[in-house]
Amino acid sequence: TYLGIDVGTTAVKTIVIDEDQTLLASASVPHPILSPVPGAREQEPDAWLAAVEQSLAEIRQAAPDAYAGIAAIGLSGQMHSLVTLGADHRPLRNAILWNDGRGAAECAELTAAVPDIAEITGVIAMPGLSAGKVLWLKNHEPEVFARIAAVMLAKDYVRLWLTGEVVTDMSDAAGTQMFDERERRWSDRVVAAVGLRMDQLPRLVEGTEVSGRLGAPIADKLGLKAGIPVAGGGGDGGTGAAGIGCVEPGSGFLSLGTAGVYVAAQDRYAPKSETLVHDFAHCIPGRWFQMGALLNGASPLAWTMKVLGETDTDAALKAVAADYAAPSPVIFLPYLTGERTPHNDPDARGAFFGLDQATTRTQMVQAVLEGVAYSLRDAQDCLDAAGAVVERPGFLGGGSKSRLWARIIATVLGRPLVRYRGADLGPALGAARMAIIAATGASVTAVCTAPEEEETIMPDAALVDAYADRQAVFRALYKAERGVRE
Ligand code: XUL
Repeated sequence: TYLGIDVGTTAVKTIVIDEDQTLLASASVPHPILSPVPGAREQEPDAWLAAVEQSLAEIRQAAPDAYAGIAAIGLSGQMHSLVTLGADHRPLRNAILWNDGRGAAECAELTAAVPDIAEITGVIAMPGLSAGKVLWLKNHEPEVFARIAAVMLAKDYVRLWLTGEVVTDMSDAAGTQMFDERERRWSDRVVAAVGLRMDQLPRLVEGTEVSGRLGAPIADKLGLKAGIPVAGGGGDGGTGAAGIGCVEPGSGFLSLGTAGVYVAAQDRYAPKSETLVHDFAHCIPGRWFQMGALLNGASPLAWTMKVLGETDTDAALKAVAADYAAPSPVIFLPYLTGERTPHNDPDARGAFFGLDQATTRTQMVQAVLEGVAYSLRDAQDCLDAAGAVVERPGFLGGGSKSRLWARIIATVLGRPLVRYRGADLGPALGAARMAIIAATGASVTAVCTAPEEEETIMPDAALVDAYADRQAVFRALYKAERGVRE
């Protein structure tokens, strides 16, 4: 059997599958996001380890035979996080996450130092990606910066715990903005520009390669076999893609987790960074992907439920579905944590527009679903402009469980959305697939297949024009929101 571990933003998701990729057990253990100062988003690396350990204990208890038979491990994780370790390989501070908004000034500094940074690293310098955060640390916490022995990403800290190795894979390195995407190696120029040395960076492997082996003491502690291989794995953009067989050009998906991503596989590196899509190395050798990265995916809905004091999201969505006939008269800007694609604007904020005395709570919830759909449409236009057109995107992630949301998004995008069976396993399945390939040498084509299609959600032809009109208002509203701040 094979273990896939995804270190997500809100939880660690762990699965065990067999040789035929049948799911045998899964567990999800949450961990908190810390925001010590406004705009900051951090996590304790050791909280990830605790969550992984607990998820493994749950699986071990629920499916002891499947657990005992684990022959290889694959890792996936939230991208762009910055974990800094001292000489003793202990964290020097909390990890800074992908949705942290600090470092805009450092990104300008970086662009001045490496004017062709977008061509090298697949996207313009943006806060949230690791390089700007490294420079931010250098400028704001020089005493921490001076003690850095190694920097790495979330899942790689789990790998260090499992194997003792300081390694990352191409697709997670891709999100650091210190990586030469075309050559699939660290970029000497960007690394120098942020003030790091090559020996502070993890060794690179492909996602499908063995990165190290499970150490004896940790194997003993976890009740796993010592020496089993740990695959390179990938950042969750890549492993999410691998999990649904998004490997060949033309294939793509959108995923609504805490973040939203819209990904299109490619067989060459062809950056179009002026469109604010990210062109990153895939966790599959010889593949890249174009990605629209939205900081606000399913999280605005979770936020709305929280402020409404609503504990039953399904019931709230059912209420919207019951009344649903046309776009909500209310428009919502979903930029609660700023936005990357298409704005590169960490200070962007959310808004409800068009409220009147008759506005209902249901209309406001519908507006939130639609606001996320409009921002996905903006990302789709960016991908189209970059030549990465996906005719039938897959639809994954926690937010994809809602048929209503799927229908609204399909209509706003003007494209059918494909729901796959088992797609809720998401990046953890991609990680387990990396484990199979690394351990058995099976081919990517044999392992990374598209799951069975469950259903295709078609755009609602009668509403396409109405939504296009609302999209124009949505865009004007963002301009106005920006204008107020400037
Ligand atoms: C992608 C991004 C997010 C995280 C979420 O650029 O920042 O999707 O990977 O885990």
